[in-house]
Amino acid sequence: MIDIQDIQKIIDKYDQSKLAVCTLGSHSSLNIFKGAKEEGLRTVCICKEKDAIMYQKYPVVDELIIVKDFTELLNEALQERLRSLNVILIPHGSFTAYLSTEQLTSSLKVPMLGNRKLLHWEVNRKSQEEWLHKAGLQLPATFSSPDDIDCLVIAKLQGAKGGRGYFLANSAKGFYKKADEMVKRGLITRQDIETVHLQEYVIGVNVYPSYFSSIINSDVELLSMDRRYETAVDSIGKIPASEQLEIGVIPTYTVVGNFPIVIRESLLPEIMRMGEAVHKKAMELAPPGIIGPFCLETVITDDLKIYTFEISARIVAGTNVGIGTSPYAYLRYGENMYMGKRIALEIKNAAKQKQLQNVIA
Ligand SMILES: Nc1ncnc2c1ncn2[C@@H]1O[C@H](COP(=O)(O)OP(=O)(O)OP(=O)(O)O)[C@@H](O)[C@H]1O
Ligand SMILES: [Mg+2]
Repeated sequence: MIDIQDIQKIIDKYDQSKLAVCTLGSHSSLNIFKGAKEEGLRTVCICKEKDAIMYQKYPVVDELIIVKDFTELLNEALQERLRSLNVILIPHGSFTAYLSTEQLTSSLKVPMLGNRKLLHWEVNRKSQEEWLHKAGLQLPATFSSPDDIDCLVIAKLQGAKGGRGYFLANSAKGFYKKADEMVKRGLITRQDIETVHLQEYVIGVNVYPSYFSSIINSDVELLSMDRRYETAVDSIGKIPASEQLEIGVIPTYTVVGNFPIVIRESLLPEIMRMGEAVHKKAMELAPPGIIGPFCLETVITDDLKIYTFEISARIVAGTNVGIGTSPYAYLRYGENMYMGKRIALEIKNAAKQKQLQNVIA
C-alpha cells in the first residue's frame, strides 16, 4: 500500500499554478479533458496509437503520451514524467480493467483523485454489498448455494466485466442445466460455477444516477442519470419467442452506449438520499468517504422500489451523456456543467484553498 503521506509530499512539490489533469485515453477521457480545459487546467493523455485520432478530431489534450499498453502506467520513468507535469490522475473504468487493485494501490506513485482505500470495498462483491446494505439501501436478495434458488436469479461470474457469461435461472434444477449448457458451449468454465454469485433478478428498468461527492463543499451533488444500451439483450425482444427458443438465446450485456434519463420527480428525493447515505457510510468505512464521482447501478420495479445492485466509486462512462449539460447539472449550475468539468472545478477549488491533499486519499 502506498503511503498517502508520500503522495502528499509529491503534491507539496508541485507547481500548483501549472496543475494538469491526466487520464488513460478511453472510457470517459473526452469528458474529463474537455472539463479540465474549460476550467483552464492543462491536460495529459496516455493513449494507444490507434486511438490518437480522437484527440486530433477533438483537440482537448495538451500532451499526448503514446503507449503500447496501459500497464506502462506502472513504469517508474513514465510516472516521473507525469509528476514533472504536475499531474493529478483521474481514474475511470479502464484503470481497473487493465490494472489490478493491488497495482493501483501499491505501484502508482502519482497523485490520483479519489479515495484509494475504497477500492478494496468496491472490488469485492461481498464487501460492496455490505457497504450498500449498511447504508440502508435496498439490495436484490443473494443465494449462497444454487440449491436455495427460489426465484429468478442472475448468475454473475467473479471478476467478469460487462456481464460476460452471466445467465439467468429460475430454480436449482434450471441452474445446473443452464450451467452445464454454458460450459459445453465454452462460454464459462467449471471453476466459474464454483465461485458464481447468485443474485435475485429484479424485474424492472435500469437507472444509473451519477453523483459528485465534494469534500471541499461537504456535499453530494446529483449530476446526471443514464441507462445503458446493451448488446445483445436490448435486441432480443425483436426476435419472436419461438425463434428465441429454437436458437437457444443466451443474453449478453456488452455495453455499446448510454441514453440520458430524466426520472419521474417523485423518485428524485429517494435517489438523492441514497447518494448521501452511501457517502456517509463510506466516511465510516474508509474516511473521508467518497471523493469525487460515483454511480449507483439500480433497477426500479413497478411498485417504484429502487434496488441497487452495484456501486462504482469513480466516474462512469454513463456520465458522457451529460457532456455540455444535463437536466440535473443544469438545475444546480445552469448551463455548462458536467462530470469532467465538475472534477476540474473541485481540483481548482481545492488548490485555491490549499486543500489538494484532501481530494487525494
Ligand atoms: N439483480 C439484478 N436484477 C436485474 N438485472 C440485473 C441485476 N444485476 C445485473 N443486472 C443486469 O445485468 C447486466 C450486467 O450486470 P452488471 O452491471 O452487474 O455487470 P458488470 O459485470 O458489473 O458490468 P459493468 O462492469 O459493465 O457494470 C445489466 O444489464 C444489469 O442491468
Ligand atoms: Mg455493473
